Amino acid sequence: MFIVDTAIEKSIELENDIHIFKIFSPDIASIINPGEFLNVKVSDTLYPLLRRPFSICDVEGDYIFLMFNIFGEGTRILAHKHPGDIINILGPLGKGFNFGSNFETAVIVAGGLGAAPFPFLTRKIGNKKNILTLIGGKTHREVITYGMKNIHIATDDGSLGTKGTVIDLLNENKKLFTSSRAKIFGCGPTPMLKALKKFSLENNLDSEVSTECAMACGFGICQGCPIESTSVQDKYLLVCKDGPVFNVRDVVI
Ligand SMILES: Cc1cc2nc3c(=O)[nH]c(=O)nc-3n(C[C@H](O)[C@H](O)[C@H](O)COP(=O)(O)OP(=O)(O)OC[C@H]3O[C@@H](n4cnc5c(N)ncnc54)[C@H](O)[C@@H]3O)c2cc1C
Ligand code: FES
Repeated sequence: MFIVDTAIEKSIELENDIHIFKIFSPDIASIINPGEFLNVKVSDTLYPLLRRPFSICDVEGDYIFLMFNIFGEGTRILAHKHPGDIINILGPLGKGFNFGSNFETAVIVAGGLGAAPFPFLTRKIGNKKNILTLIGGKTHREVITYGMKNIHIATDDGSLGTKGTVIDLLNENKKLFTSSRAKIFGCGPTPMLKALKKFSLENNLDSEVSTECAMACGFGICQGCPIESTSVQDKYLLVCKDGPVFNVRDVVI
């Protein structure tokens, strides 16, 4: 685990108010995996006190990409940073996606900003497996396709792609992957992850999801990020240390 001050190399704002930072961090970039995250100190003052967790959106050589929107005070401060500004990052943290396992088709299911970890997963899987990407949002403004491939889209209001949820889209496209050995990789709001778990169990599909909760330390010390486990031995797991990526069978969503 590294804790480093690093300069923002480039800042991109997508048309739907999504920000992408490119930051230089060779030590972390060389060892980090899709689904793992960084805990970022968004200001060099004591406010806000706590770091904010962000998924690794992508890695190119010595550079790491983070994707975020303005949600509260921390992300507002971050969004006002410019190339050359320094941020302090802690990572790599958590356990990411297991994408080397025995499957033929990766079915990526993303809701809104849940798209954040998938450009890196898409890059890492490369041409080694088929990839089918299903992306959902409430409206077209919430649909993020950055860095993904073979994309199908659904919006709640029908303003882009199919009208309905990303889980409706998953059901509609079931025939594209249920004949192959498929594995689902999901990230998005909790109701979506809940529906994804139900779909995966009903269709007997291997499925991993990246979960979210408010965090403090980010590496297992404060015990502030419990998630209920389905195992009798471990009543609770920690999202930051045991996750944020879990097999849907292992946790209560
Ligand atoms: C493992 C992990 C990876 C993440 N990756 C990304 C990413 O790639 N891009 C991105 O934009 N966001 C990501 N998030 C969420 C991001 O960390 C929060 O949106 C961010 O902390 C909000 O900070 P803020 O200061 O802007 O908002 P705050 O002012 O801290 O938050 C406003 C309100 O939301 C609550 N809150 C904050 N964070 C969360 C949360 N995670 N779950 C539930 N309630 C919360 C706070 O308690 C507060 O009441 C991730 C979270 C986790 C746990
Ligand atoms: S955030 Fe501290 S234990 Fe998970």
